[in-house]
Amino acid sequence: MLKPEIEDGPASHARLSGADPAFRADVIAGLTRRPRAIPARWFYDRRGSELFEAITDLPEYYPTRTETAILREASADIARLAGAGRAVIEFGSGSSTKTPILLGAVRPCAYVPIDISGEFLRESSRVLAAAHPGLEVIPLEADFMRPITLPPRIAEREKLGFFPGSTIGNMTPAMAIDLLRAMRASLGEGAMLVIGMDRIKDVAVLEHAYDDAAGVTAAFNLNLLERINRELDGTIPVDAFGHKAMWNDDRARVEMHLKAKRAVDFAIDGYRFAMAAGETIHTENSHKYGARDARILLRGGGWTPVADWTDPEGLFAIYLAEAQAVRAAP
Ligand code: TRP
Repeated sequence: MLKPEIEDGPASHARLSGADPAFRADVIAGLTRRPRAIPARWFYDRRGSELFEAITDLPEYYPTRTETAILREASADIARLAGAGRAVIEFGSGSSTKTPILLGAVRPCAYVPIDISGEFLRESSRVLAAAHPGLEVIPLEADFMRPITLPPRIAEREKLGFFPGSTIGNMTPAMAIDLLRAMRASLGEGAMLVIGMDRIKDVAVLEHAYDDAAGVTAAFNLNLLERINRELDGTIPVDAFGHKAMWNDDRARVEMHLKAKRAVDFAIDGYRFAMAAGETIHTENSHKYGARDARILLRGGGWTPVADWTDPEGLFAIYLAEAQAVRAAP
């Protein structure tokens, strides 16, 4: 446990019984450190997942519909370049529209969605299996940030990894490279990877995608505070916080913050916190990659770019890459 600063600290040693101890630890440590930051994984309770679904339909949020359209255009090429009969391994639960497009084109021998949330995983696997009779669906409940042991049934098959949604952009470049290397280790020799990455573009377009007129992204961000109040016995005055999305040009990412509109103090599970007016809690990053940036990232992570596809406006890109052979010389 981090030692709280003078103005923030434990008021009692009460421990919550029903709460997730990892959530509690991340929130208390995240609000104690400077700058304050809470890991984005805690966005996704039931309400958060619903709000995220709604984000993907927003007029300002171009990534989902753009990536889906690119995949429709590219899937026949991907199937030709990757060849039929691979096992498709998706990092994250099957997305409702994108996964069937890929599966329909590449005709895999099996489909293995990997997700840390078992409940979500089983539900989406059932839907996918029903839509693809004859396809073997093998859900795997695991943290894909670490190397994974794949089911023995597909051990001899070549793998095709699928990582859509520009989820790689929610990691720092260092974490993204660690993840690509872990994928390379999990998928093995001869593997290929289909990965979506959002591009650098006009700042207003980027910022509006993360701060829509209807306020859905704001509600998604603020729901984290409501979740803390609900699950961790928090007293955060949620109406004292605003949603802030801003482009950080130095780091090529959109940052999401929760900004205190006035000085606030509150308690979480007996821990006291005080924030000055204008102070923020950093909650998410969405890194954007130009064409060369993306290829360098892939190579750095052990993957050689083979082909890429973009939309007519160049908003978003899908890359096909192959696992670098293990070798000593350049
Ligand atoms: N990877 C997507 C993106 O960065 C989805 C996402 C993650 C997201 N966290 C978000 C979208 C928060 C909006 C708000 O765009």
